[in-house]
Amino acid sequence: MDKLSSMSSKKFFIANWKSHKTPGDVVNFLESVKKGLQNINLENKTIIIAPPYPLLPSLKEGITSNNLPFEVSSQDVSAFDEGAYTGEVSARLIKNFASYAIIGHSERRESFKESDDFLLKKVEFALKEGLTPIYCVQNEDQGIPPGVRIVAYEPPTAIGTGNPDDPNHIEEVFNKIKEKYPEVSVLYGGSVNKNNISIFLNVPNLSGFLIGGASLDLSSFLSLLSQW
Ligand code: PGA
Repeated sequence: MDKLSSMSSKKFFIANWKSHKTPGDVVNFLESVKKGLQNINLENKTIIIAPPYPLLPSLKEGITSNNLPFEVSSQDVSAFDEGAYTGEVSARLIKNFASYAIIGHSERRESFKESDDFLLKKVEFALKEGLTPIYCVQNEDQGIPPGVRIVAYEPPTAIGTGNPDDPNHIEEVFNKIKEKYPEVSVLYGGSVNKNNISIFLNVPNLSGFLIGGASLDLSSFLSLLSQW
């Protein structure tokens, strides 16, 4: 199997913790999750947790010490290299703690006015430092920067609203994305929870989920993982 087809047959489960959790919460989560994972088939699943920046080191350390099958992602990355950029966190620093970086989430595009050009720089720095971008688009028309292999389709009307997109519409969007970018794995995100995840599982080309609110609670996290 070549590298591209092995990437697209992978199943991604990305937990985006947004601005939630403390160091103590991370310790509790990791200590408790191990038992729950025992009954779940994890074959071919890449499980990625994206905590707030200050929790990256403790998450990475806890995953190693508990021997858990999880990968770490940042929720963002700087559009600049290391330097005089107050408040920024560079890819060069993040790569010590994470292998992935979410880029272009709609909450950043909207609340922080991040443009496609600005996001392109983030992707370039991530790739340069060896981080795998998880690039978010809000519709099928948004461009995807060169080098991106994982794309999360996240319609803003579905994020945190309890109103996920319709599976037929997701299929249409995925088809259009795959027509233009056949090399990418496409994920869906927006109000996926343990009660509705099953309705998305038959969407053609679906390579995974980016889950916010429903990934915070341990039993919900495990239920989602066991159904995917
Ligand atoms: P949600 O968020 O699952 O809470 O809707 C998804 C996301 O924004 O990543």
